[in-house]
Amino acid sequence: MMRRKIVAGNWKMNNDINQGLELVKGLAKEIDAKNYNAEVVVSPSFVNLAGVVSELKDSKIGVAAQNMNENVSGAFTGEVSGSMLTAIGIEKVIIGHSERRAIYGETDALLAAKTDAALANNLEVIFCFGELLEERKSGNHFDVVTSQIEKGLFHLEASAFDKIVLAYEPVWAIGTGETASPEQAQEMHAHIRKVVDAKYGAAVADKLPILYGGSVKPSNAKEIFSKEDVDGGLIGGAALKVEDFMGIISAFE
Ligand code: PGA
Repeated sequence: MMRRKIVAGNWKMNNDINQGLELVKGLAKEIDAKNYNAEVVVSPSFVNLAGVVSELKDSKIGVAAQNMNENVSGAFTGEVSGSMLTAIGIEKVIIGHSERRAIYGETDALLAAKTDAALANNLEVIFCFGELLEERKSGNHFDVVTSQIEKGLFHLEASAFDKIVLAYEPVWAIGTGETASPEQAQEMHAHIRKVVDAKYGAAVADKLPILYGGSVKPSNAKEIFSKEDVDGGLIGGAALKVEDFMGIISAFE
């Protein structure tokens, strides 16, 4: 089964507009000159999205927001709606990153509502989830991940999955330098695909891209991405330098 392959860089709260433009110029020069077998995505902060979209208007590189509000519009000071994103040419949004869950208290129910709002705006959703270290140590990681997916996404119709990409990001591997082994990633990704298959059938499960995130770097990307059910990665720290990010993308040369 040939699934979409995706390498997405999550910049988090890094890069002002000057740094962001410099980074995407460097990436575009390399990526647009060659045919990689993966889609490449960057996700700047809200304030830098429009500038980066404009810089990348002739590039293959896609741009995602890191978050959005679940409401259409109104008295929600400091928040950004889905239609504001599409109005500046954004086509994708990351929902449910572990930092949003842990630091900003975003619950499964809220993330389900954000996913609905994103899909209502025809945004593609990169939906993140993953277990804590304690949950893995106690052997609950499969149940935790199953529950996050069920609560966040299983109210959707099968057809909605054309606009969904999953990102398994074990919390203990994010920004820690510790990576899930390729075997641990494959084992979880196969589990996730089985859970989706049981609910929606093989037609949906087989074509659903499942990305791995958590300390992916040039030295480990190729081995992780070579696993059957790993369809690319969501990259934090190593997405902030042209050389590092290209080192990861070149796993799909
Ligand atoms: P990391 O972050 O690559 O720095 O571990 C991944 C993520 O948070 O998406």
